[in-house]
Amino acid sequence: MATQEVKKPKSLDEIIKIIYKKTTSDETIIKDELQNILEAYESNPDEWKRYVYFDKNRYTRNLVDDGKGKFTVMIICWGEGIASDIHDHPKSDCFMKILQGDVKEALFDWPKGEGCKMTERFHTTLKENQVSFMDDSIGLHRVGNVSDTKCAVSLHVYIPPIDRCDIFDELTGHMTTIKLDYDSRYGVRT
Ligand code: SIN
Repeated sequence: MATQEVKKPKSLDEIIKIIYKKTTSDETIIKDELQNILEAYESNPDEWKRYVYFDKNRYTRNLVDDGKGKFTVMIICWGEGIASDIHDHPKSDCFMKILQGDVKEALFDWPKGEGCKMTERFHTTLKENQVSFMDDSIGLHRVGNVSDTKCAVSLHVYIPPIDRCDIFDELTGHMTTIKLDYDSRYGVRT
C-alpha cells in the first residue's frame, strides 16, 4: 500500500491550525491524516513547556486549545510511576503523541459483566514522538509513565471533545462515570 507523504509540521501551533482546517471535513479522512501529521511532528519542549504542571500523586490535564467545541488539544503530565485508571473515550477519537519519556499503553477488552476480572489484550511502550490511536470500538486502555525516576509528557487530541468518561475496576469490571477537568488552561493553573 502506498504511504501518504506528509509535510512535517513546523510547530505545535501549525498542527492545531491544521486540525481547525480539517475538522470541517470528513472525520475518517482526518483520522489517518492526523495520525501521520502527529507522527511527523518532532517534539520541541520550547513549544509545550508552558503547559507543563506536575502533581506527584496523579496525572495532570492541561488544556492547550478547546477547538471551538470541535476538538480538544491537551497535554498530560505524568509524574514518576503515575498511571491512569482503565477508561473509555465516549464517542471520541483519541490520539496520543509522546512528547517526553516512555509511556505504557495497556489495552483491555470491555468487561464481560459485573464481577468479572478484566482481560488485558496487550500492552506496548510508546517512546518519544510515537503516536497511538484509541476509540471505544478498539476497547479500553490504561496509560502510564513506565519510569519511577523520570517524568513523562504526552499530547492528546480528542475529536470531538469529551468532558466525562467511564473508569473500570480491573478486578471486578465495575464502571464509574467521572467528570474530566483541567489542571491548567492555556498555560494558567486553574
Ligand atoms: C488517556 O489516557 O486517554 C487520557 C485520559 C484523560 O483524558 O484524562
